Amino acid sequence: MNVPPLPVAILAILLSVVARTTSGSSSLENFLQCFPNHISNPSTPISSVILTSNNSTFTSLLLNLTSNRRYTTPTTPKPLAIVAAQNPSHVQATIICAKSYGLQIRIRSGGHDYEGLSYVSQVLFVVLDMFNLNSIKIDLRNETALVQAGATMGELYYYIAKESDVHGFPGGVCPTLGAGGHISGGGYGNLMRKYGLSVDNVVDAELVDVNGRILNRKTMGEDLFWAIRGGGAASFGVVLSWKIKLASVPPQVTVFRVKKTVEQGATDLVYKWQLVASELDNDLFIRVMPLVINETKDGQKKTIQVSFIGQFLGKIDRLIPLMNKSFPELGLKETDCAEMPWVNSTLFWYDYPIGTPIEELLVKNKQPTQFFKSKSDYVKEPIPKIAIESIWKLMIEVQDIWMQWNPYGGKMGEISSSETPFPHRAGNLFLIQYETYWEKEGNDEMNRYMNFSRSFHDFLTPYVSKFPREAFLNYRDLDVGANPSNSTSIDVAKSSYGRAYFKDNFERLVQVKTRVDPDNFFKHEQSIPPY
Ligand SMILES: Cc1cc2nc3c(=O)[nH]c(=O)nc-3n(C[C@H](O)[C@H](O)[C@H](O)COP(=O)(O)OP(=O)(O)OC[C@H]3O[C@@H](n4cnc5c(N)ncnc54)[C@H](O)[C@@H]3O)c2cc1C
Ligand SMILES: *[C@@H]1O[C@H](CO)[C@@H](O)[C@H](O)[C@H]1NC(C)=O
Ligand SMILES: *[C@@H]1O[C@H](CO)[C@@H](O)[C@H](O)[C@H]1NC(C)=O
Ligand SMILES: *[C@@H]1O[C@H](CO)[C@@H](O)[C@H](O)[C@H]1NC(C)=O
Ligand SMILES: *[C@@H]1O[C@H](CO)[C@@H](O)[C@H](O)[C@H]1NC(C)=O
Ligand SMILES: *[C@@H]1O[C@H](CO)[C@@H](O)[C@H](O)[C@H]1NC(C)=O
Ligand SMILES: *[C@@H]1O[C@H](CO)[C@@H](O)[C@H](O)[C@H]1NC(C)=O
Ligand SMILES: *[C@@H]1O[C@H](CO)[C@@H](O)[C@H](O)[C@H]1NC(C)=O
Ligand SMILES: *[C@@H]1O[C@H](CO)[C@@H](O)[C@H](O)[C@H]1NC(C)=O
Ligand SMILES: *[C@@H]1O[C@H](CO)[C@@H](O)[C@H](O)[C@H]1NC(C)=O
Repeated sequence: MNVPPLPVAILAILLSVVARTTSGSSSLENFLQCFPNHISNPSTPISSVILTSNNSTFTSLLLNLTSNRRYTTPTTPKPLAIVAAQNPSHVQATIICAKSYGLQIRIRSGGHDYEGLSYVSQVLFVVLDMFNLNSIKIDLRNETALVQAGATMGELYYYIAKESDVHGFPGGVCPTLGAGGHISGGGYGNLMRKYGLSVDNVVDAELVDVNGRILNRKTMGEDLFWAIRGGGAASFGVVLSWKIKLASVPPQVTVFRVKKTVEQGATDLVYKWQLVASELDNDLFIRVMPLVINETKDGQKKTIQVSFIGQFLGKIDRLIPLMNKSFPELGLKETDCAEMPWVNSTLFWYDYPIGTPIEELLVKNKQPTQFFKSKSDYVKEPIPKIAIESIWKLMIEVQDIWMQWNPYGGKMGEISSSETPFPHRAGNLFLIQYETYWEKEGNDEMNRYMNFSRSFHDFLTPYVSKFPREAFLNYRDLDVGANPSNSTSIDVAKSSYGRAYFKDNFERLVQVKTRVDPDNFFKHEQSIPPY
C-alpha cells in the first residue's frame, strides 16, 4: 500500500515533541503549545478552533452537541479542551499532539452517543469536534455523494433532495445524527429492508490514522475499510468523510401511522405483525411503536397505544391491495395514507406534521431536555401473546418509556453476517429498542429509571437472542459490558460487548486494531482492544 507522506507541518510537530508529562494542567499547556507553533494556516489559525474552560462559549459548545442529560451534570467529567476542527490538518494535529502529551481524545460528530462516549471520559481528555467539517457534495451522474463526518443525516437528505427527487439514502431517522458516528456504527433507517444499512452503501472513506496520516480505501486497505463500516470507527481513527452510494426512490412515497390501543386489539395486531413484518414486500417497512397513554381523562387509568408507522416505496393504489393481502388485520385504508416526496417522509418519520418545510432538516444544536437510558434486543421467534401482555403491564408500571420494534428481512437477510462488522442479518425478525426517560434531576429519579430499564431487560431474556444476547452498537449500552477507559481487557471485551455487538466478527476487528493502533491510542469504554 502506498501511504501518502505527512505534511511538513505535521512532521514539525512530531519532531518538536520532546517531553512527556502526565499532570492535567501541564498536559493541556503542552497540548496547546503543540499547535500554534507548527500549524500555520492564516485563514484558520488554530487558536480560533481550540476552546478551553477559559473561553466563554466553552460550555455552550460542549452542550450544543450532547443528546442525553445524564452526561451534562456538574459531576460529569469535562474535557480539558475542545478542538472544533475546520480542516483536516487540525484533526491530524489533534491526534499527534494528544498522543504526544498523554491525553485521550474523544471524537464527536453528531454527539448522539447514548452513553456520551464522544464527549465524556474518566481520564484526561480533549474533545475533537467535527461539526465544522460538514460539507456535502452530491454527484448525481455517478449516484454518489461525498459527506464529511460532521454533516448531519438531515443535511444529507436535504441536499440530496435539492438535486433529485428520485434519490435518497438508507440512514437513520433523527435529522441531527452525525454522519461520523451514525454511519460507522452501522446506521439503519426505514429503507433498510430495501437497501440494507448505511454501511452497506459506503464505497470509500477518508480516515486519519494514529500517525496522523490521511488514508482512503486504497491506502488503508480492505481490512480497515471493513472495520470502520459498522465496527465503530472511534477504535481505529477519525473519519473525515464517507463516499456513499445514493439509493433510488420513487418521486412519491406513501406513509401512514395507524394507532390502536390494547382495547382496540393492539395485542393481536402486534402478534400478527411479528409473523409478517419481516416477510413483506421489500418496498414496505412497518415499525411498531408502543407507548403508555391515559385511558381516562383524569389519567387515573393508563393503557398502551401502539402506532404502526409505515413507509411504502410506491403509491397508495399499489399499497392498499398489498396490505389487504399480507396484513389485512390492520385494516389500512386510503384515508390513513399520505403520498409525498421521499425527503418529506424523513420529517414524517421524526413526527413532524405533514407539510412541514424541509428546511427543518437543517436545524441543529438542540440542547438536551431529557435524561434517558436505552437498550436493544434482537428477536428471532415471535413473542407469545401472554408475554406481550406482560410487556404492556410493565410499561404501564413505569409509564415514562417507549419501545420501537423495527422489522428486518428483505435485503438485511441477503447480506452475509461477515460482510461488515455488523453481524445481525438473516434470522432476525426484528430489533427492539426501549428507552426510559425522565426530566427531574437527582439520583433517586435516575436510580428508579435505570433500575427499571435493567429489570425490563431481565424480563425480556426468554424472548430474545441468546448466546450471545445481541445488542446494536449504535444503541450504545454500557450495561452490555465495558472496559474502564484507562484499561484494556480483551477478555472483558470478548465476553461482553465485543460478542454482543459483533458476534464472530469481533476477532477480525481485534486483528485490524492490532495492526493499525497497537498501542491503543483510540480508546473508550467499549472500544476494540488490540492483542
Ligand atoms: C434521537 C436519536 C435517534 C437515533 N436514531 C437512530 C436511527 O434511526 N438509526 C440508527 O442506526 N441509530 C440511531 N441512533 C443512534 C445513533 O446512530 C448513534 O448514537 C450514533 O453513534 C450517533 O452518531 P453521532 O455522530 O451523532 O454521535 P457521536 O456521539 O458524535 O459519536 C458516536 C460514536 O462514534 C464516534 N465517532 C463520531 N464521529 C466520529 C468520526 N468522525 N470518526 C471516528 N469516530 C467517530 C464517537 O467517538 C462515538 O464513539 C439515534 C440516536 C438518537 C439520540
Ligand atoms: C479562547 O480564549 C483564548 C484566550 O484565553 C483566546 O485567545 C481564543 O481566541 C479564544 N478562542 C475562541 C474560539 O474564542
Ligand atoms: C485560564 O485563565 C487563567 C487566569 O487568567 C490562566 O491562569 C490560565 O493559564 C488560563 N488557562 C488557559 C488554558 O488558557
Ligand atoms: C449553540 O447553538 C446555538 C443555537 O444553534 C447557537 O446560537 C450557538 O452559537 C451555539 N454555540 C456555540 C458555542 O457554537
Ligand atoms: C464519476 O464517474 C466517472 C466515470 O466512472 C469518473 O471518471 C469520475 O471520476 C467520477 N466522479 C467522481 C467525483 O467520483
Ligand atoms: C395523563 O395523566 C397524567 C396524570 O396521571 C397527567 O399529568 C397528564 O397530563 C395526562 N396526559 C394527557 C395527555 O392528558
Ligand atoms: C381485500 O380482499 C378481499 C378478498 O380478497 C376483498 O373482498 C376486499 O374487497 C379487499 N379489500 C380492499 C380494501 O381492497
Ligand atoms: C414537502 O416539502 C415541501 C418543501 O418544504 C413543502 O412545500 C411541502 O408542503 C411538503 N409536502 C408535504 C406533503 O409534506
Ligand atoms: C435500584 O437498585 C439498587 C440495586 O439493586 C437498589 O439499591 C436501589 O434501591 C434501587 N433504587 C430504586 C430507586 O429502586
Ligand atoms: C483508572 O481510572 C479509575 C477511575 O475511573 C481510577 O480510580 C484509577 O486510579 C485509574 N488508574 C490509572 C492507572 O490511572
